[in-house]
Amino acid sequence: MSSRFLQTLAGEALSPPPIWLMRQAGRYLPEYRELRAQAKGFLDLCYTPELAVEVTLQPIRRYGFDAAILFSDILVVPDALGCDVRFVEGEGPKLETIRDSAGLSRLSKAGLHEHLAPVYETLRRLRRELPDDTALIGFAGAPWTVASYMVEGGGSKEFQEARTLARRDPVCFSALIDLVAEATIDYLKAQVEAGAQALQLFDSWAGVLPPSEFHRWCVRPLKMIVTSVKETHPDIPIIAFPRGAGVKYRHFIESVPVDGVSLDTSFSVDWAADQLPKVCLQGNLDPIALLSGGDEMLNDTRHLLNKLAGRPHIFNLGHGVLPPTNPDTVKRLVDFVRSYRPSSD
Ligand code: CP3
Repeated sequence: MSSRFLQTLAGEALSPPPIWLMRQAGRYLPEYRELRAQAKGFLDLCYTPELAVEVTLQPIRRYGFDAAILFSDILVVPDALGCDVRFVEGEGPKLETIRDSAGLSRLSKAGLHEHLAPVYETLRRLRRELPDDTALIGFAGAPWTVASYMVEGGGSKEFQEARTLARRDPVCFSALIDLVAEATIDYLKAQVEAGAQALQLFDSWAGVLPPSEFHRWCVRPLKMIVTSVKETHPDIPIIAFPRGAGVKYRHFIESVPVDGVSLDTSFSVDWAADQLPKVCLQGNLDPIALLSGGDEMLNDTRHLLNKLAGRPHIFNLGHGVLPPTNPDTVKRLVDFVRSYRPSSD
């Protein structure tokens, strides 16, 4: 196993730790903005292997990250199920809303692989083009987060409609969650067959679920997905990101057989290192630290590296790189992590 990222997920504590950043490809890079302006739309970028490969490789060329994440989006799954998805400039995603059994009956996973074939092609090409020591990460959204976008018809602050539907009509909501979970299982297995060497599951809105619903809508579907993917691909490492789940991360790790968890910005790494079961920890520098940059960013980074030294750690942010981030600041961060040696602080 030549990749430091995969070694760490397998349980080795490497110093310095491997590094990649969520949303490492995207609008903060001028070369992304240039290519994006030539594409017809964001989804067109995701479904054109030639372009998606190029965008995935852009941050690898600049920074030599230890892992490349497939360029795509979590919303290609609803799109492939027949729920219309559009990305409106400056407004984010807009989806056809699914709020009852009539809406649900319009969806089907019959055409899933055909629709997502360009994504599999992107992964095949990436594996050929990436250096051997750069791991290739495939990903999907978790059912709770993906279903919430479908019920809301887009992003939302509180996901009020989704949470209300889950309480008012749990049978309908549960059928939607199951459909997304089953599609996600098929999608992730196909990603592994096309060359993904690790998988990340993004449950970006896990944090809006109260403890009484967290198990049902976050833990249970993710357990089903991870168990099923590992049944056919036992060696594939899986990282989950139940963002905002706080102390419930512990229950999550005890219930879902993941190899790693990505920590959001709410965690003090001291707490995480003491309180969380021994899985690989990924994270968790605040993306805002890269906007202010400077020595404070490096101090936070040093603190994090010191606290997690000695246990399997993948350096990352607590959420995605923000569009106004200066690419030179990312370079400074990567250089700092790469030259890190343990010290006291
Ligand atoms: O570099 C990478 O991380 C790989 C690609 C990637 C994208 N989206 C590209 C993207 C990944 C892993 C995602 C995941 C994703 N998409 C999540 C989970 C992670 C998270 O951030 O919480 C979510 C919730 C989405 C849904 C989504 N996609 C939203 C809400 C938006 C609009 C807001 C925004 O950030 O622009 C997108 C669009 C999107 N996805 C862009 C990119 C590069 C910007 C599109 C553009 O160029 O205009």
